[in-house]
Amino acid sequence: MSKRFTLTAALPYTNGPIHIGHLAGVYVPADIYARYLRLQGHDVAFICGSDEHGVPITIKAKKEGISPQDVVDRYHKIIENSFKEFGISFDNYSRTSSKIHHETASDFFNTLHDKGAFLEETTDQLYDAEAQQFLADRFVLGTCPKCGFTESYGDQCEACGTSHNATDLIEPKSAISGNVPVLKSTKHWYLPLDQHQEFLQSWIGTEHKHDWKSNVYGQCMSWINDGLRPRAVTRDLDWGIPVPVEGADGKVLYVWFDAPIGYISSTKEWARANGKDWEPYWKDEETTLLHFIGKDNIVFHCIIFPAMLKAEGSYILPKNVPANEFLNLEGQKLSTSKNWAVWLPDYLKAFPDQQDVLRYVLTATAPETKDNDFTWKDFQARNNNELVAVYGNFINRVLVLTHKYYSGKVPQLKELTGADKDVLGELSTTPKEIQQSLERFRFREASQILMNLARSGNKYLADEEPWKVIKTNPERVQTIMYTALQIASGLSVLSEPFLPHTAEKLQKMLRLDPIPSWKDVRQGHTLLASGHCIGKPSLLFTKIEDPEIEEQLDLLKASKKSNAVKNTTAVQKTSIPFGDFSKMDLRVGTILTAKKMPKTKKLLVLEVDTGAEVRTIVSGIAEAYAPEAVVGKKVTVLCNLKPRDLRGVESQGMILMAKSDDGQLVFIQPDITHHTVSGVSIC
Ligand code: 2FM
Ligand code: ZN
Repeated sequence: MSKRFTLTAALPYTNGPIHIGHLAGVYVPADIYARYLRLQGHDVAFICGSDEHGVPITIKAKKEGISPQDVVDRYHKIIENSFKEFGISFDNYSRTSSKIHHETASDFFNTLHDKGAFLEETTDQLYDAEAQQFLADRFVLGTCPKCGFTESYGDQCEACGTSHNATDLIEPKSAISGNVPVLKSTKHWYLPLDQHQEFLQSWIGTEHKHDWKSNVYGQCMSWINDGLRPRAVTRDLDWGIPVPVEGADGKVLYVWFDAPIGYISSTKEWARANGKDWEPYWKDEETTLLHFIGKDNIVFHCIIFPAMLKAEGSYILPKNVPANEFLNLEGQKLSTSKNWAVWLPDYLKAFPDQQDVLRYVLTATAPETKDNDFTWKDFQARNNNELVAVYGNFINRVLVLTHKYYSGKVPQLKELTGADKDVLGELSTTPKEIQQSLERFRFREASQILMNLARSGNKYLADEEPWKVIKTNPERVQTIMYTALQIASGLSVLSEPFLPHTAEKLQKMLRLDPIPSWKDVRQGHTLLASGHCIGKPSLLFTKIEDPEIEEQLDLLKASKKSNAVKNTTAVQKTSIPFGDFSKMDLRVGTILTAKKMPKTKKLLVLEVDTGAEVRTIVSGIAEAYAPEAVVGKKVTVLCNLKPRDLRGVESQGMILMAKSDDGQLVFIQPDITHHTVSGVSIC
């Protein structure tokens, strides 16, 4: 029977691209589930969008000297495109800066406000007197009261996942100025979670004790057992949704109040565009609502958002919140700020048309019950030993032999042997096994059941050896190939949730039209009839060679180095008066000649034409540039630097260089106007 499902995937923050941790934790499992449900014929709304408010976006905008809207416009596009290219099949991908979201979130707040569901309180909050700003959330750092981590944010500790109020931090410091904040009174609206304690205790503690994952259940109960306290749902910030009531000037909704409402507004947007009614997806008790998230989002989706929904009164609550643990990368915690990540857009560039390889590896090693590690070596091994050697090899053999023996026509089925029946039996039991694993959110297990079917197909061919039997018993080979073709077709159907690009390619190669259903496979129906003509084979997967992996590892190493460089360049030098700066005589020059300074690693001796004269300048750039690479370059020259003797050569000035965002030493070139420099360094 067709049922209605609303699936939400955590709205990603719009201050950076998506990385493999996001994919493994949230988007790949959510997408597998959505695709699986659609194959069962269910009515699915798979919802996501960009989470565009919050302090990290403001901080990024400040750092780059652009507006928060510029930041979110940039990353919204990048994120949306990379999801599309990767094949995440959202029914709608919206954004929280949209009009529909502002309206929906404001209405939601007003409904709660009118129902008296908030407390209004004026309390002392942390304030940076120099920056003249209240220090909400990530604007303040301090020691976590729960685990002692010294760099906890004001709203959440990344070390232990605890979510707290900024005033709970021990020894807080402003992230803007580094100053110790003062206390200043301000009014805010609070969601009195303590009033929802009893309901949450019974809804999670009793109703979901057995069907929620133990990591999710455990975290929720620890929160509930600690005693819930009122949480502020508004902030003194200028980026966000204005608090829609009187007396709230300069205040916005807390990002974690508006973001989950983003699921609702994204559903509304989708419904409007498709002539549907959004309400049953959020208000009909028959609908199954599932939130796919990472473990750092558990409290917001299991406690705070349900309390909001319950207080509003007309919404359903999630049936399950299958949160994953974290994925590490090469043994270290993934980090956006430290650039320790494999970014989705970079992956798609480095491995074009190999979306399914990453999907498969992230599923087979998903951090379902504990944190897990992604390594490039494992990525290579799973591709080469499983996708290429098992799945791809099986399909290739089936298709090539069908063309060789029968010119691409599915042969007649003759008499089935025990081996044929066994493998066909496995084909028809596999859908149920996959189903059972997926319905318990065991995606790793499900992916391995699928791979085992390919393995059995491969083994079947190896055991039956049609390439030998063809010489002695061609009739038997017809049955073998017929059987193998059924397995190949079944694989193309069952693979769709896990390997959607591969499934499509395979279905095209087999010319499956119509494509058999999941039910057809489960019921052991003929999936490819005798006489049907299949298309030409092409490789589904290709071997990944060592140099490709080494390149990725080198990139990671480089990002670690550039990070170290960033950390050193991040140290601010003391400020200088403008008078000092204006003493510099800066001119545009052209490098005429360049040679290495003998017996040094770092120095190049340059002849630079500044227009008025040709100067000799010794520059410490030899490690970054070969002499032949700099000849002809237009550069900026500091002409009135006191001449210095360097290894017996008088250096008559200095070439100004800058460090780019990725730590590279770059020329300040007058004919290039769009440098992304983070600081001038003297070389
Ligand atoms: O952790 C995050 O990336 C958040 N932006 C998730 C928000 S999920 C939802 F509530 F919108
Ligand atoms: Zn902590």
